Amino acid sequence: MRSDIVHPGADKLKYEIREIVTVAKRVALSGTPVVWENIGDPVAKGEVPPEWIKKIIRDTLQEDQSFSYSPTKGLDETRIYIARERNLEGGIQILPDDILFFNGLGDGISHIYRNLNPRARILGPDPAYPTHSSAEAAHANKPHMTYRLDPEKEWRPDLVDMEKKIRANKNIAGILIINPDNPTGFVYPQETIRAIVALAKKYKLFIVSDEIYSNLAYEGSGMRKLASVIGTVPGIAMRGISKEFPWPGARCGWIEFYNRGKDKNFDRYARSIVDSKMLEVCSTTLPQKVLPKVMGDPRYYPYLAARTRHYEERAEYAHGILSKIPNIIVHKPRGAFYMTCVFRKGALKKNQTLPVRGDLKKFIESCLTKASLDKRFVYYLLASTGICVVPLSSGFNSSLQGFRFLLLEQDTDRFKKTIHTIAKAISDFAKS
Ligand SMILES: Cc1ncc(COP(=O)(O)O)c(C=O)c1O
Repeated sequence: MRSDIVHPGADKLKYEIREIVTVAKRVALSGTPVVWENIGDPVAKGEVPPEWIKKIIRDTLQEDQSFSYSPTKGLDETRIYIARERNLEGGIQILPDDILFFNGLGDGISHIYRNLNPRARILGPDPAYPTHSSAEAAHANKPHMTYRLDPEKEWRPDLVDMEKKIRANKNIAGILIINPDNPTGFVYPQETIRAIVALAKKYKLFIVSDEIYSNLAYEGSGMRKLASVIGTVPGIAMRGISKEFPWPGARCGWIEFYNRGKDKNFDRYARSIVDSKMLEVCSTTLPQKVLPKVMGDPRYYPYLAARTRHYEERAEYAHGILSKIPNIIVHKPRGAFYMTCVFRKGALKKNQTLPVRGDLKKFIESCLTKASLDKRFVYYLLASTGICVVPLSSGFNSSLQGFRFLLLEQDTDRFKKTIHTIAKAISDFAKS
């Protein structure tokens, strides 16, 4: 090219959750069946969307208007429904115009960072969900800035660390929380969100709260949305149907703007996000048409409650086994369908291995030049047992060494076998 056509932030775009698939396919070719514990897709892991939801979708497809464009912000009736439901929960009251639909929340996340002033930074959690951390890093062309979620304190955010970073970095303009969190399953207590809102108020920041798992918080988790405590601070809440219905293939998510009118600069930023969506015309119509019918159905919330009970049972089982291993830290999640193990300091060393068949060992080692030690464990686990999890350091932009796996396996015996195999691999790796 006669001039450089590569965006300066291009090297920041990393999504190890899917990058590992190429390696896993090579492992499968060598004859070891792969147990996919990397991508949080309930349908791919065998959950069957209920027949009544499928019927609503089929019936809606018969309406010719399902084939048309929708308004840029999203269908009026859907945004009216969401605003009404939001307002009934108490907390901040919004209008349908405060809602903006996207083709999946991933698309929404990309718009949020893409439209920020390149100097303005969003401080996010460590471990981080890579769609946020990569998009934030790419927009600034600098490493993503994080506050600590503390594995020694059941993943509570380190608010002292958060304030120290905000004070030291004048470019920090916003704080991101993911609630319930991916990859830890942590649910922010309401007083913690309140404290974060107070920090935002003190330093004139806005808050982004990714609540895609908010309806998958476990009973008794104390899950409260940002809307319940935001007060007068500008904020953006994020939701979607990928995990809830579950219908990740629909590519349907939305954001809710809070307190646009309270800050001119925030209002202008919000308008730029709407304007950039307008250039794309609109988001997919069918899932928006379906949304109020599904969420408004009396079967919806009992259905979600049954699913979350199932995830909680899986979490309890996994915690019972893995918490007995001395060189890792593991906590029971309070929501969503992920669980994270952290290796204690000194547990991982160079040259640790697991038994791997024939030429696969050469291939795995060739993937591991300059790799972090947790990635080494993850690749050996994959080559040795077929279990495909995601390393914490490179997969979730983390200073911690560990890995994330799923609670989505439908077959109980298979789930138990996977957990026992992981537990044995951790011990064997340490002894090798
Ligand atoms: C925290 C979080 N936010 C956003 C997304 C993206 O969801 P969507 O399928 O709506 O793009 C995911 C997907 O795993 C997620 O875990």
